[in-house]
Amino acid sequence: MKTKIVNYPNLVEAQNRQKSDTQFYHASVSHLKEMEEIGRGKKYYIHTFGCQANIRDEETMRGMLESVNYIKTNNPDEADVIIINTCAVRENAEDKVYGEIGNLKRLRKINKKLVLGICGCMVEQPEILEILQAKFPEVNLYFGTHEINQLLDLIYEVYINDIRLISIKSKQGEVIENEKVVRSNNYKAYVNIIYGCNKFCTYCIVPYTRGKERSRHFSDIMDEVRELKKQGYQEITFLGQNVNAYGKDLDEGHGFADVLEEAAKMGIPRIRFTTSHPWDFSSKMIEIIAKYENIMKCIHLPVQSGSSEVLRLMGRRYTREHYLALVKEMRDKIPGLSLSTDIIVGFPNETEEQFNETLTLVDEVKYESAFTFIYSPRRGTPAAKINDNVSYADKSRRFKELVKHLEVNIEADSKRYIGGTYKVLVDGTSKTDDNMLSGYTESNKLVHFKGDESLIGKIVNVKILESHTYSLIGELADE
Ligand code: SAH
Ligand code: SF4
Ligand code: F3S
Repeated sequence: MKTKIVNYPNLVEAQNRQKSDTQFYHASVSHLKEMEEIGRGKKYYIHTFGCQANIRDEETMRGMLESVNYIKTNNPDEADVIIINTCAVRENAEDKVYGEIGNLKRLRKINKKLVLGICGCMVEQPEILEILQAKFPEVNLYFGTHEINQLLDLIYEVYINDIRLISIKSKQGEVIENEKVVRSNNYKAYVNIIYGCNKFCTYCIVPYTRGKERSRHFSDIMDEVRELKKQGYQEITFLGQNVNAYGKDLDEGHGFADVLEEAAKMGIPRIRFTTSHPWDFSSKMIEIIAKYENIMKCIHLPVQSGSSEVLRLMGRRYTREHYLALVKEMRDKIPGLSLSTDIIVGFPNETEEQFNETLTLVDEVKYESAFTFIYSPRRGTPAAKINDNVSYADKSRRFKELVKHLEVNIEADSKRYIGGTYKVLVDGTSKTDDNMLSGYTESNKLVHFKGDESLIGKIVNVKILESHTYSLIGELADE
């Protein structure tokens, strides 16, 4: 099989952050007529790893595929197009992808016309792309995070010409509007407001895989929110690697606080957002969150480390003191605020003392939930070049210790719900018991309770009877 390379990723180009204006495009779908015939009666299977950015990208890919008659299947064995949407943030995320391709590659022998595509953040790294090609000759399509909108053209070319196609451009990125989308949920939606990342934290691969920070036009975001409201959505989550940076690259005079306020006024029952970098969280944002009832009092505020020296080496642009002052301002101005975070243990040469500073910070802030990670070197990032004197055994021990500290706080916090009645947006039935429903409180606590399936997608009152570390048990308080 011939390999055609349209564009190949390049980490140096991926670092480029020139001031040149972002290009805004409206999605256009070429080959539509031919693809409508090719897609008729065929099925697609997409497996997405990674964060909400990837989940939202999957919804765009679904929109495009279904617009040319492909039908979704959850069984890869019967698919004519398979797409594995990858994450590169840590080594274990990449290992899962290697496993998945290993499982699916056999299908190319059975179905000679199968399009087996790999996209997402992993393929944006040239060295990983080399490994993938060497390991999996069965894969016949590679495309990057900036090529999602070309998916149909790429499938067409692979299908018609029977070639292996690589189209991955490392570029600053653009903003594409009016893409077709099939949302995976009909009462909760993700709304992108800003793409990419300019922070370049020294451990992180994301700025290389997702391009520069580029905001959508305010009016395009609001049109999307208005449409979601009209369709009856109960919850929207604004997405960005750093939502606080919204609008800084545009001359429209709108910041993230304006996005929140305008959306809140439209009356969607629940508004959330993720992620906020502590560095540019403004007082105005805090005021707006406090002011509107339908902006959830939940802030995901990744701290990464409790040591100012480690934070400096991570390139996080804030100190422990600055972070704690921000938390204090938030807690003072937003009653009932629930905070969650991300923490990395075992950054290169992290001392026991520095690690202890993370423990004391965690005890002080009292998070309601937290994602914890052992540092994973990412090739091409500055931190990966540092000689590390901490053993993996020490990192694992620290990781377990940190989780224990967090759990003490989380468990104590869960207890405070007992006896109270909370609004829960019902998500679905429990995997083990059809009579049990589950959903989330406004503060994002998972609640299980008995109820009828007809409540899925609705907001109901639930009285909390019992608490576990990561979930609550309750009963319906509505009639
Ligand atoms: N933009 C978001 C984070 C996206 S990545 C933010 O800045 O908050 C999600 C989390 O993965 C990060 O917050 C960090 O805790 C973790 N992470 C990123 N790179 C990592 C690495 N190399 N090793 C371990 N954890 C990492
Ligand atoms: Fe990665 Fe830092 Fe950007 Fe978050 S802010 S995506 S951790 S570089
Ligand atoms: Fe992973 Fe890419 Fe998201 S690396 S965390 S899928 S931005």
